[in-house]
Order: sequence, then C-alpha cells, then structure tokens
Amino acid sequence: MSIYRTMLFAPANELRKAGKAMMLNADGTVLDLEDAVALSEKANARDTLKEALLMPRRGDVFIRVNSVQTEYILNDLLAAVTEGVKGLVVAKSESAEEIRQVDWLIGKIEMERGLIPGSMEIIPFIESANAIVNAFSIASSSPRVSRMFLGGVDYVLDIGTTFSKGGSELFYARSQLVVASRAAGIEPPIDTVYPDFKDIEGLVADAKAVRQMGFQGKLAIHPGQIEPLNEVFTPTPEEMAWATKIVAVFDESEAKGQAIFQVDGKMIEYPIANRARRILELSRQIAQKSG
Ligand code: COA
Ligand code: MG
Repeated sequence: MSIYRTMLFAPANELRKAGKAMMLNADGTVLDLEDAVALSEKANARDTLKEALLMPRRGDVFIRVNSVQTEYILNDLLAAVTEGVKGLVVAKSESAEEIRQVDWLIGKIEMERGLIPGSMEIIPFIESANAIVNAFSIASSSPRVSRMFLGGVDYVLDIGTTFSKGGSELFYARSQLVVASRAAGIEPPIDTVYPDFKDIEGLVADAKAVRQMGFQGKLAIHPGQIEPLNEVFTPTPEEMAWATKIVAVFDESEAKGQAIFQVDGKMIEYPIANRARRILELSRQIAQKSG
C-alpha cells in the first residue's frame, strides 16, 4: 500500500510550477490537463506535459485527464499513458462504465508502447451527486482503481450549495467515499482541495476532521499547504507512544491467554490492539519514505 498524505496539483502547461511541484515534499504530484488549463491551451498543455515529465521528481507523478465525456479524452490518454507516470486521475468520473472504457483504452496504449500491462493506476475524481451515488460501483469497476479523490468544489456546485469552513455540506459525500472505498477493497480516499490557501489554520482543522472520518490524505494546490497536511496525516508522538504501549501490553497479556483488560481505565481488546499496530506500521512506512 502506498501512502499519500498530500498530493499537490500543478497546471501541466506551467512548466515552472510543474517542475517545482515534483521536487517538493508532497507524496504525489498531479499534473493537470483539466480545469487548471484554459480551453484554448488544452493542446499546448499536452506538449508541455511531455517536457515536464522529463524533469526530475521526488514522489509519484499522476496526470489528471479531462472527463471521459469530453472531446479531449483520447488525446489526453495518448499524452498521459507513458513511462514514469504512476496513474491517471479521471476528472468528473460518473460511472463504472466510464472507468471501464478508460481502462480498455489505457490497456491498448500500454500494449502499443511496451509498458507493463495493467501498471497504470486509475484514480476516479468523484465530484457530483451522481458519482457519489455510484461510488461503490466506480471503486469496483477495474483493478486499476487504487483510490478515489473527492472534488468538493464541483460537488457543492452540483448539489446547489457552497463550500463552507465547517464542511457540513460535504459530510455525507465524505462518509460515502470512505465506506465505498473500504467495501470495494481499495485504499482510503483523498479529500478535496482547500482553495483558501492562505488560511492554514482552516486547512489543518479540515484535514484533522477528514482524517478522523477515514481519509488517508488531502489534495493541495499550493506549496504552503504541504507541510501542514503531511503533519496532520502522520501519527503524532502521543499516538506513537500510546500504540507502542498498547501493543507491548496486549502481546504480553495475549501470551498469557487474556485478550481483554484495561490500560489507564480504558478497555483494550483485539480491534484496539490492531489499530495500534496499524499506527506503528504507518509510521514505519512514512519513516522509510522520508529516510
Ligand atoms: N505547484 C508548484 N509551485 C507552485 C504552486 C503549485 N501548485 N502554486 C504556487 N507555486 C509557486 C509559485 O510558482 C511561486 O513560485 P516562484 O515564486 O518561484 O515563482 C510560489 O509558489 C508562490 O506562489 P504564490 O505567489 O503564493 O501563488 P501564485 O499566485 O503563483 O499561484 C495559484 C496561486 C492558486 C494560481 C497556484 O497555487 C496554482 O496554480 N495552484 C494549482 C492550481 C491547480 O492545479 N488546480 C487544479 C486542481 S483544483
Ligand atoms: Mg473539479
């Protein structure tokens, strides 16, 4: 399992930003061919994308292609399915059928270009009411679907409301994505961008709330958002100390035939011990990544 605490967007037609984004400390970069690119720039963006992909990078690189329903999709896929790209983010994904169509086309391009069959991941961008209702079938539509993104800005437009700091309008969609992802056996989802990039306090509060709901990370649009997000989605020293203690005490008790007991006035049982083991494992993987 990969770890994506932060994924930074950069427009594919702005080489300076794209090059910079790939060298920052985000776990992944998404080079965008969709809404960050003006309609008149779509063809040019595919050319600059080629240049951007030759630049050095630190984390995984993904490309956001335009919706399957647009005239751009075929040329986007031809530009994006190349060596060194970890996966494609499919903008405004609406149904399992659309993902299967993209899957089929990607497979043909992989074959044509001698890429490892099935290696290109698909990340459906869930950003409408219809897509939220279809979330489980979208998540289960292809073995390439590794995780989903929530697109909050388009979603609130679709349901006829606005983006608020408290995020109550996103609560149902967020829960639905967490549950659908888990039921389909894919990774936890990654939450929407936070457009007000100067408001770090608000970003952190939003990130903490979605971490608690079961998200693995959050999308970023600005370099200043990366470190605060990485921190929120990394186990804290307190969580580490708790997990270390629980695992040690649990293993000792279980060896003596006892699986239920208390630590500091709280009941400990298998799921709690397993949660503690997951925290230690996540922290180990993050350390390995940054080390
Ligand atoms: N990736 C890489 N570098 C970025 C960046 C990004 N997403 N956003 C800003 N930067 C860089 C700028 O180029 C600038 O670098 P420089 O001083 O070396 O030129 C520096 O960070 C400071 O940028 P700042 O002046 O604060 O912002 P801006 O006005 O240049 O850009 C945005 C603001 C919102 C336009 C920009 O952050 C952006 O393009 N974000 C990504 C948008 C996107 O892809 N959206 C699609 C998904 S919703
Ligand atoms: Mg969108």
